Amino acid sequence: ETVELELEAIEKGGYDHFMLKEIFEQPRSIADSMRGRINLDSASLQLGGLRDYLDKIAKTDRIVIVACGTSWHAGLVGEYLFEELARVNVEVEYASEFRYRNPIIKEGDIVIAISQSGETADTMAALELAKSKGAIILGVCNVVGSSIARITHAGVYTHAGPEIGVASTKAFTAQVTVLSLIAIATAHKKGTISQDLYRELLFGLDAIPAKVEKILKSAEKIKDISKLFTFASNFIFLGRGLNFPVALEGALKLKEISYIHAEGYPAAEMKHGPIALIDEDMPVVFIATKDASYEKIVSNIQEVKARKGRVIAIVTEGDTLIPKMVDFVVEVPRTNDLLLPLLTSIPLQLISYYIAVLRGRNVDQPRNLAKSVTVE
Ligand code: G6P
Repeated sequence: ETVELELEAIEKGGYDHFMLKEIFEQPRSIADSMRGRINLDSASLQLGGLRDYLDKIAKTDRIVIVACGTSWHAGLVGEYLFEELARVNVEVEYASEFRYRNPIIKEGDIVIAISQSGETADTMAALELAKSKGAIILGVCNVVGSSIARITHAGVYTHAGPEIGVASTKAFTAQVTVLSLIAIATAHKKGTISQDLYRELLFGLDAIPAKVEKILKSAEKIKDISKLFTFASNFIFLGRGLNFPVALEGALKLKEISYIHAEGYPAAEMKHGPIALIDEDMPVVFIATKDASYEKIVSNIQEVKARKGRVIAIVTEGDTLIPKMVDFVVEVPRTNDLLLPLLTSIPLQLISYYIAVLRGRNVDQPRNLAKSVTVE
């Protein structure tokens, strides 16, 4: 047994848990997911896995994304990216709902499955259904040779490396990276983005790993903030635009490993319900970066502070306004607005991790959850 314990310690590479190790691996896993695909010298992007399909993706008028759990959240980020850049309709479906709904799929529709394991039963069944109706099915998987990777017509691997912690972290950012690449490649093919934006996004993506590295330097600060919220019984996560799926993912992470009830909402929806929950005991995490929604989110923060909610805000480096309004801030570097989820999701992973550890939870193997759900 000692041998096993020592082996595990070696595998964790000096970290207390796989989850923390995987959070800290993200500069590399994001870079690995872009390696050989982006070429900055020629400002170009190659997705070998989609060689024969990019034309079809560029021609379709509708893309359906199917996934479960964290992968579904990555899909929501993908929806914003495809719509904004490639001007195509996107629907993001829970695989479990899609498969039992007699969905409208016609010959040649594009269905993209996102799955870390490539083995999730519902996602697999959703793809089989779509394939039987004549759709082109594509995969964004992490595990090479997995069932989903094998049944799809084509796909793009995430290359995040093995993810052991049940709560997905580096697989999520790798999925968002790959979806960004597919959306950019599609937009370039269709001519729906300017050459300037194309270059800006490619250079922006290339700079993400170093920016993630910088955010990881705030881990100690995030740990200190987490100490003050260890005994909270509820949490709300709010964001707008591309940061809305990040809010959902932040809430899911906290639920999964700390067993604290948490909800993610689009910040503007707050007044249609969650605002009733806000009092001095309610922690609210705002993703409040300087993007197109900044002014709006500032007023959402005011609404929460007026009701004495305790606010942690994820802000853009150098923001001087929000730090004066809220209880705690964590800064993220600037980037193109469309790439923000790759940065803003990192502090939320760390908040969940530290709160769960402080509560004495088994973060790598939370109760009742499985890494891969291969049965219905
Ligand atoms: C389980 C895991 C999650 C994961 C989801 C989908 O619930 O605990 O972390 O997001 O399945 O898994 P997949 O392998 O399809 O991405």
